[in-house]
Amino acid sequence: MSNILVFDSGVGGISVVREIKQLLPSVSIDYLFDNLYYPYGELDEVTLIQRTIAVIDCVAIEHKPQLIVIACNSASTTALPALRAKFDIPIVGVVPAIKPASKLSNSKVIGLLATQGTITRDYVEQLKINHASDCDLVNVGSNELVAMAEALYRGGKISQQRLLDICQPIFEQADVMILGCTHFPLLMECINQIKPPSLVIIDSGLAIAQRVKTLLDARVVKTKAPNDFLNHRALYTKSINDKSLIAALFSEGFNETTLITLPRG
Ligand code: DGL
Repeated sequence: MSNILVFDSGVGGISVVREIKQLLPSVSIDYLFDNLYYPYGELDEVTLIQRTIAVIDCVAIEHKPQLIVIACNSASTTALPALRAKFDIPIVGVVPAIKPASKLSNSKVIGLLATQGTITRDYVEQLKINHASDCDLVNVGSNELVAMAEALYRGGKISQQRLLDICQPIFEQADVMILGCTHFPLLMECINQIKPPSLVIIDSGLAIAQRVKTLLDARVVKTKAPNDFLNHRALYTKSINDKSLIAALFSEGFNETTLITLPRG
């Protein structure tokens, strides 16, 4: 049976998990979120790299995934090279879909909605230079939107007016908007209610799921036999007192929730 690890700071990576489950229904998924260090969009690069390595290291030793998905743009745009150097397991990262956006845009003005960390990364600047040199990029970095997605996932309400205020610079200028944070697809229904009808929205979820499938197929990893138990676990680094989050995780299809304690040092 295939078993993969999907990683993020909070519940955002679940938007990627949904795409993977859709495409690969017989793969067991450990979803690890580092809620102790959330939000990653506010961490500096050194902390992000060290922390991501430490958490993945701890979980990978025990859980032995066949593949890891860093379902976090903030971490992927910073820590991917270090992670790939350290771990001998295929690692799929999630980075803003600038290349497909530039191809889709007619006006050649594309919007990037991401965390404040991600919009400042050299990695993103390089993506623009390599794949969208003919486009203007309207960057909106918002950590508040991440918190709004966390609240909505727990069944809370968010302000549509606030959402509109944050997205407005992109709505006014661009014809394609990239969701450059895995939390933001969780806001999709709300965004659809306020976005200009002609604005095209893209995120990386499906492309990531397809990449995972390609890599698992290439490794000829056995998929689930009929009687194998499909196990989806939610793992986290700070205990959760929030009943609405636990309920949301179970209704998402996770059948186990476990607190991970990192060794000191
Ligand atoms: N979901 C993450 C991302 O794609 C991290 C958000 C955060 O923790 O700030 O960037």
